[in-house]
Parts: sequence; structure tokens; C-alpha cells
Amino acid sequence: MESRSTRLKHYGRAFHSRSRIREKDRTGAVLEDFKKTLSFPTATCSLQDLARKGADLADEQVVLYGYLGTRRDASKSLTFAELHDAGLKYTIQLVSTPVKGVDGSDSPHQKLRALETHTPVAIDGTVISRKAPKASDASEGSRNIITSVEIKVENLIPLNAFPKDIIMLQDTVFPPEQRHLQLRNDQGLRDTLDFRSKAARLVRDELCGKQDFIEIETPLLFKSTPEGAREFLVPTREPGLAYALPQSPQQYKQILMASGIPRYMQIAKCFRDEDLRADRQPEFTQIDMEMAFASGEDVMGTIETVIRRLWADCLAIDDLPEDFSRMTYQEAMSKYGSDKPDLRFGAELRRIEYMLPVDLIHKIGPLSDPAVEVMKFSGFNEPQATRKFVSAFMDSPEAQPFVQNPDGQPGIFVYDVRAPLQGLQVFGFEAAEQLEEMLDLDNGGLVVIQARKNVPFAGGSTPIGKLRLAMQKFAEKEEYLPRRTGFNFTWITDFPLFSPFDDAEPGQGGSAGISSTHHPFTAPKTPEDVDLLLTDPLAVKADHYDLVVNGVELGGGSRRIHNAQMQELIMREVLKMSDERMKDFAHLLEVLRAGCPPHAGIALGFDRLIAVMLGKESVRDVIAFPKSGKGEDLLVKSPTKMTEEQMKTYHLKLRD
Ligand code: AMO
Repeated sequence: MESRSTRLKHYGRAFHSRSRIREKDRTGAVLEDFKKTLSFPTATCSLQDLARKGADLADEQVVLYGYLGTRRDASKSLTFAELHDAGLKYTIQLVSTPVKGVDGSDSPHQKLRALETHTPVAIDGTVISRKAPKASDASEGSRNIITSVEIKVENLIPLNAFPKDIIMLQDTVFPPEQRHLQLRNDQGLRDTLDFRSKAARLVRDELCGKQDFIEIETPLLFKSTPEGAREFLVPTREPGLAYALPQSPQQYKQILMASGIPRYMQIAKCFRDEDLRADRQPEFTQIDMEMAFASGEDVMGTIETVIRRLWADCLAIDDLPEDFSRMTYQEAMSKYGSDKPDLRFGAELRRIEYMLPVDLIHKIGPLSDPAVEVMKFSGFNEPQATRKFVSAFMDSPEAQPFVQNPDGQPGIFVYDVRAPLQGLQVFGFEAAEQLEEMLDLDNGGLVVIQARKNVPFAGGSTPIGKLRLAMQKFAEKEEYLPRRTGFNFTWITDFPLFSPFDDAEPGQGGSAGISSTHHPFTAPKTPEDVDLLLTDPLAVKADHYDLVVNGVELGGGSRRIHNAQMQELIMREVLKMSDERMKDFAHLLEVLRAGCPPHAGIALGFDRLIAVMLGKESVRDVIAFPKSGKGEDLLVKSPTKMTEEQMKTYHLKLRD
């Protein structure tokens, strides 16, 4: 008698051989199915053609590609199905009836009835005029529905399967892990990519086609020469050697200027290992350009032409100003508390500490000699509603950074003719009167004050500058104020060439306690600024310009230092870079030394440009495969852990 274990063994063997046979069958089926898709017929017509020509194509035999849409089996022998074109923009009706003589599951009719929605197919059929064609083709959501003709299906080749476990309805929201389905199910996202592609083409056409720029690809395997942000390193198989991915093509484009290339442009990939925000990605794209024998004025003029062309051709907006407005850094910071002010609303800042009673200054916050700024939001004319807005804002998460400001909370006052001193009694009679006049409060308004340290401006914004924007956004969100519209461009100029060293931005600073505000290749603006370099570097103005639109820094550029000795002086004598750090830039000095012409350039953030043009909140909305807030690509699941083998190859070891 067979023992239990022998019986089990036999059973196991039988099971394994059965599953091996099944496995073999499956493998065979996979190979056969794939073979069928190898040579599918060539499409003879697109749905776009059918939409355009309609009944003119009646009775023609066509081959169409696309994805199956919803299907309706009207009876055993009549099926209607939608066919969406490859770009998912057009839809046509397929009509299927059994074909005489062709029966069974292989008949086109049965195949169509067995296939899942979203299956990619090639359809062979005849164009039929619809019996009651509508006056014009309709549209459903973002799709164009062709109603003048339909297709009588004669043959059908499924080109792949669409699995049952993926449910994709019109309103299905997919997570970032399924970016392919996000894209496939969202015409808006695909339109954005289309728009982006068109914008890139236009930029190339304007610069290379019309203005004699040439596009040159610069290396992505670059070297570590910190320009501002932290960089990504690429280890090599040579022990201890690494490339760095470029933060921008800055140095190569300057090298091109010394190489006899008069006008360079590139739609360039850049990499920065910095904290991510709505307008920042670790990997992003710039429209990068540089011009030899040119000044900042030439660059700004060229960019204005590019922007006007983009707005006219992509957005049909052709009333952008001939010359964009300009504002110095100092003016932007004092009027708007930001070096990228949104000029679509007022609420300009004014200094008022000189008019305030001393005891009020003590109440505002802990600073003994603060700068105090005031702004007025117009459009708040009804005191009761305004008070409601103020408490909703102050209770909101958006207000928390301002409530916790160590230099004191903002003071917010509702102007109210029925209240003592019109609601400004805290200021005392005299200051209240001055404020009323200064802010033109007769027509109501919301008055906000904020203290800050009384020191020269540095960095990108002050707390009241951020508050200005946060309150405006909140008021729009809660419908207290109308939404900002339009595009308001401005150039911000006269940035300080150097800023006090900031630990948070590991830059190119040396031991002088200062670092370049942008990068160390920027030229001082005037001869007077050159004179200040060695005596008062923080007072030196840079020949730098930022292009700002609607509160977004779209791009920045400068005239460069084209003289090697001057470049060396800035690095060695002003920034006081160590000899070792100087070595990182030796190539650039060598290049400038070889008779490099004066040059200037700029880079526009291409992702930001597209986001601004389309009114998107985040650059992620305009990038096909954006990284998450943690810098991950959740679809491909990068970055990945290095294997032991890889670490060995690159001579790397993890620290405990
Ligand atoms: P800058 O560092 O100011 O200048 O960059 C130019 C523009 O690039 C965009 N940008 C970004 N976009 C998305 N994600 C990021 N992490 C990111 N960082 C920057 C912004 C910014 O205005 N080489 C110089 C330009 C020059 O001097 O010619 C440079 O890179 O829109």
C-alpha cells in the first residue's frame, strides 16, 4: 500500500505536470497572440479626417486605429460601440452585425462583443452616412463626437488586452503611481503637454528661426562647481571620482561665448537637489540663452519679443506692452515686500513707524526700533463682512506663520466710520488721521500693519510681503475679493551683487561671510559699483534682471564678468574663496582669458512659464512625469536603493 507521503508525492508530481502543461499552453497563447499583433494593417484614414470630410467619405473602405469606448449590444445581431482615436480626441460610432459565412468566436462581430472598453484595436470597415445626420458634429466633454458618419465593422484586430481589474471611468481619479492612467484619462493633462510642445517649438522658431540663435546641447555629466543650490553627484567607476549634474548650463554657455558662438540657446534640463515646493522640481527645464557682444538690455529686449510671440500665438493675447515695466529690487521690496511682486492688485506698503506713538510700537512686538509697514486692501467696504473675513483668515492654517512671527503678529484693523476713530483708535488721534489720509480710507478698507527688523533688505521677501499675498489669496478663495486676472510682467533690476552668507543655501561663498546673490559670474552694474567692490561689497548693485509675472519669478539673467582677472578678483578678493574652491573654476578663468567678448544672458524656467500661461498652481501640472514632494517618481519608484554590487562598482560604502 502506498504511504501517505508517496501518495502526496504522486499527487504533487501530477499537479506539477498539469500546471507545467497549463504553463506551456499559456506561453504558447502569449506567443500566438503577440504574433497576431505584429503585422496589423496600416490605417488609411484618421478620425480627424472623418470628422472633417464626413459624408464625402461615404462608402469608402477604411482602416482605423483607436481605443474601444462604450458598447451597446442592441440585439444578438446588432452591436454599437464607440471608437476613440489614438489621441483620444475624436469618437465615432462602430456598427457591427454578423458577417455572412464568418461565424464563431473568431468572427469580428463576436470579437467586438467580447472585448473590454479601452482595448486598442485596428478596425477595417466601410464609412456609412448616418441616416439622420445631425446639423453638425457634437462634442462631449473634451471629445469631438462624429455624427455625420459611422463605421460598419468588417474586420477587427485587437492589438492588446485591457485588463478587467483596471476600472477607468470618465471621472476616475488615479494616484500618481498610475501616472499613465492619469494621462490617458485626462484630456486636460494631455492638452497641457501638447501646449508645452507647441510653446517649445515657437521658442525655437523665434530664437533660431528669426533671431539667429543656435541650439547647442551642453553636457549633463558636468563637474561639481557649486553655483547656489545643492547638486546631484554621479559617481564613476574610478575610485572617488564623480560627475555632477548641472544646476544650469551657465558655465558651458559662457564657454560658448568665448568659443565664437555669438548667440546660443537651449531648452535645457537642469538638476537641483533643493527643498521642493509647488514651483520647484529637482529636475526641471530652462529656456537658456546667451548673447555675445551684448548687454542686459539686448537680452531683455530679446526675451520680451519671445514672450510677446508666445502670448500671441499660444494664448491669442496680443496686447502685452511693447516694453515691460521695470522696478529695482529696493523698490519691489519696499513697495511689495517681495522681489517677485504680484502687481495685479494694490495693497502697496508704506513705512509708518515715524508716526506711531512709542507705546504702540512696544505693543506691536518685541523689537525696540522696528520698521513698521502698513498696507490697505481696497474692496472691503462693508465693516461687518470685513470683520468676518478677518476672523476666518486669522483662524485659518494660512495665517499661522504670521501669527507665530517672532517679531510680532500682524495688526489688522477694519475701517468703520461708526467706530471710535473709525476703528483706528489704537493708533491715537494724530496717527489715525495721518493714516486715513495716507491710505485714502474714506471709501473703507482693511488696514494691516506689521513690524520687522530695521535692517537693509536681503532675500526674496518680508513677512508683510508674504502676508499681502496670503490675504489676497484667501480673500479670493472665500469670494470676498474678485480673482486676479491677466498677466502683469515686470523686470526686477539692481539686485545686490552679494548677500550676507546664508547657511541654508550652500553656495559659492568663501570666507568673507557673503555670497553671490545669484551666481559669481554676474557683473557689477556701474563703474561706481566696481569701485565699491573692495570697500563695501554689500552695497554693490548687480547687472542682474529677473523677469516676474503675477508673483512668479519666471527667469533671471545678467551681464557676465567677461574678463578673467576681474572674475578672479571677485572670487579671490571679494568672496575670499579658498585656493581649493578657486581650482573648481580654473577652466572658466582660462576660457575668459582667451579674449572672451562681453556677453549677457538669461534663463526662463520653462515649467513655470507653461504653468503661468495656463494658470496652473504647480509646475507638476505641466510636467509629464513630475517628482513628488519627496523627490520620488511614484510610477517607476525612483530613487531606488543601491545594491551591494553597484556600491562595489562605484567604490561606495554607506556610513553606519
Ligand atoms: P536661476 O537659478 O535664477 O538662474 O534659474 C532660472 C529660472 O529657472 C527656474 N527654476 C526652476 N524651475 C523649477 N524648479 C526648480 N527647482 C527651479 N530652479 C530654477 C526659475 C528661475 O527663474 N544660470 C542662471 C541663469 C542665467 O544667469 O542666465 C540660472 O539658472 O524660473
